[in-house]
Amino acid sequence: MELTLELPGSPPRSSRVRIGEDILENLPESLSSRWEGSRIFWIWDRAVHALWHPRLREMGWRPSSEDEWILFPASESNKRLSQLEELARRLVRAGADRRSVLVAVGGGVTGDVVGFLASVYMRGIPHCQVPTTLLAQVDSSIGGKTGVDLPEGKNLLGTFHQAHSIWMDIRFLETLPPEEFRQGMAEVIKTAMIGDPSLWEYLESHSEDVRSRRSESLLRVVSSCCRLKARVVEADERESGYRMVLNLGHTVGHALEKTTGYAFRHGDAVAVGMAAAARISLNRGELSMKNLQRLESLCRFWGLPTTLPGGSPPDEILAALSADKKRFLGVNHFVLPRAMGEVTVRSDIALEEVRDVLRAMSSS
Ligand SMILES: NC(=O)c1ccc[n+]([C@@H]2O[C@H](COP(=O)([O-])OP(=O)(O)OC[C@H]3O[C@@H](n4cnc5c(N)ncnc54)[C@H](O)[C@@H]3O)[C@@H](O)[C@H]2O)c1
Repeated sequence: MELTLELPGSPPRSSRVRIGEDILENLPESLSSRWEGSRIFWIWDRAVHALWHPRLREMGWRPSSEDEWILFPASESNKRLSQLEELARRLVRAGADRRSVLVAVGGGVTGDVVGFLASVYMRGIPHCQVPTTLLAQVDSSIGGKTGVDLPEGKNLLGTFHQAHSIWMDIRFLETLPPEEFRQGMAEVIKTAMIGDPSLWEYLESHSEDVRSRRSESLLRVVSSCCRLKARVVEADERESGYRMVLNLGHTVGHALEKTTGYAFRHGDAVAVGMAAAARISLNRGELSMKNLQRLESLCRFWGLPTTLPGGSPPDEILAALSADKKRFLGVNHFVLPRAMGEVTVRSDIALEEVRDVLRAMSSS
């Protein structure tokens, strides 16, 4: 399957997304012919390289002898400016110039760092993404957000820089540890909840097929998520309004990650955040109890939490909410579900409403 992200602007830009199984065979040749005369620098998550390079070679992968390979020890603790500088210096030493192209092969960390690097290296060079985690395939590789962390918080430095093309091969998910798959499922559930009722029903009716990673199920899930994300990004690339819907579960989720010193993982935090948003919506009479229960039950199937972890006092989470970088003019924007596949963005949520819900979630 192929879809194109059309981005308005002057000149308009586009990003090609290819989704499938065994689509990587021709990637090196495709890139060499598209970028004829340019050198291609592949920046791999080192762990993915160790697992996949031998298999790709067996499949007949023959990158050009001009290409350069750089291994990056991808982890959230390495998603830092210091790593960006280290990678940039390696590019300079290897002779990368303004016509060079970067290819990120790895999960969201690799994609965010390489995207950032491409956006600033010699004032900006093209890059492509080869996402290898579920989270990167359904979310982070699409949309052009790049970034690195500061000790004060995640993704505080970053740019918008759209990938020229994105190559998603679901075969990468064969080696993804179950814990990483589970984390990615939180973003899948989020996407269905935002705007895809048919994906939601599919997740409920085919949960075992997705869990056993059947190819057709993975293709269904990944392509639906990509289509929705592409639609949202095309409408609002820079998150000046509509793109905010992608933050469902992230307002409380970010606060929870922060208060736990990022010990609580992102997917888990988003699941708790979605449950909190759903309860606020329920209390306002905008979501039915049945739909709240459907959300909680699907999260539970995936082992995703829907109550606050022990040792996370609601007041600490509320304090962290006030420091959220997505506050505009001192107001927290909340994305609230109204039904499976339908959300609304609200900025009139009182802190007391959030406190009530967090208290209920810490005792239930
Ligand atoms: N740019 C965006 O729009 C956006 C959106 C959501 C999240 N993110 C960012 O994405 C990051 C999280 O991404 P992630 O969950 O992919 O993390 P990650 O890149 O750290 O990958 C998770 C783990 O899986 C391993 N891995 C990757 N592919 C594998 C494979 N095929 N087989 C076996 N192991 C594999 C990695 O080595 C790593 O240990 C966060 O930094 C977050 O801020 C960005």
